[in-house]
Amino acid sequence: MPVVAAPGCRWWPRPGCRWWLRPGCARTPVVARVGGERRPPRYPGGVSDPTLATRAGADPARPDPLTPPDVDAVAAALEEHGYIADEGLATSIFLALVLHRPLLLEGEAGVGKTEVAKVLSAWTGGDLLRLQCYEGIDVSQAVYEWDYARQLLHLRASEVAGERAASNGRPDGAAAAEPTDAVYSERFLVRRPLLQAIDHGDGPPPVLLIDEVDRADDEFEAFLLEILSEYAVTVPELGTFHAAVPPRVIITSNRTRDVHDALKRRCLYHWVPHPDFEREVAIVRLRAPQAAPVLARQVAAAVEALRGMQLYKPPGVAETIDWATALAALGRATIDERTLDVTLGTVLKYQEDQNRVRAAGIGELVRAAVLRGA
Ligand SMILES: Nc1ncnc2c1ncn2[C@@H]1O[C@H](COP(=O)(O)OP(=O)(O)OP(=O)(O)O)[C@@H](O)[C@H]1O
Ligand SMILES: [Mg+2]
Repeated sequence: MPVVAAPGCRWWPRPGCRWWLRPGCARTPVVARVGGERRPPRYPGGVSDPTLATRAGADPARPDPLTPPDVDAVAAALEEHGYIADEGLATSIFLALVLHRPLLLEGEAGVGKTEVAKVLSAWTGGDLLRLQCYEGIDVSQAVYEWDYARQLLHLRASEVAGERAASNGRPDGAAAAEPTDAVYSERFLVRRPLLQAIDHGDGPPPVLLIDEVDRADDEFEAFLLEILSEYAVTVPELGTFHAAVPPRVIITSNRTRDVHDALKRRCLYHWVPHPDFEREVAIVRLRAPQAAPVLARQVAAAVEALRGMQLYKPPGVAETIDWATALAALGRATIDERTLDVTLGTVLKYQEDQNRVRAAGIGELVRAAVLRGA
């Protein structure tokens, strides 16, 4: 069995025990574990791996979120949680769940990439752990860091205790101060999303959302490779954390730069397109139920027309929902030229795009949308 503690780690395995144990401690599991070992059963009914069996006590009429029977079950469960996926996306999510693979979602802004992780979390019951990527993100923000302030306080307090004991004439006064390596224990470890996802507690595995990975640097992407292929994180002072049950991983990218092939190879990949007309109407009906059905169709039709106008920033689904919500808030049951003109900022966020649409004629846009939405 491979030993996975980092060099210099002071924990060791006890015979017959799944955990590496603290010296002298028979019960406290610490972070460095024996490679490949899974945790003891923690799921209802004693199912040791919930990804391989239907969870005991689950309603047989509802598909187990961790092992859905087929793609249709995934699509239905997503819809139940407010997300309407096309067959391609539902298939990718199904495969990511049953094959335990990270899912990389690329697509234009506002097409529903991030929402997939939120809905998966709501469906599976796993915590949503979100890592928002940005230029310069590093290990201390993504994985872990040491709580230096508390470490210093702890050292100072133990020094003071040692001095006090010595001044009281206790010969072991100096020994009362704790050894400095005590500050490199889990007590002082601040867990960031990647470590939280690997070393999660009981219950369903969390959903790890690595959002907008294209904003992070190449180095950070390379660093993700180890985590995504091994589901392990090494903290040199403590050892290696292994995920007993891997988290569900959703990675999103807006493709402001290409994600590296090595990362792609470790993931299933899906390009999220803008939805077709009928699906977008269904999304608006679901997300903006206050909008009249005719209004929902006309707004979806108008947005579809806008996407064909070579705009700098074509509207996403989020903007369609916002537009329908705004028009409903203004008390409109259908679209008209004047209202579309004054609410254009809800859907187009660049002045050049607004100018282009106005130049093409908002009256024409309304006519086409009313026809299409009928
Ligand atoms: N298929 C869908 N079903 C239901 N709601 C959707 C769908 N697609 C998008 N939405 C809605 O659009 C909003 C925006 O989606 P989301 O934030 O996931 O987009 P995104 O692709 O991550 O955008 P960005 O690239 O700007 O981060 C969500 O809050 C959700 O309400
Ligand atoms: Mg997003």
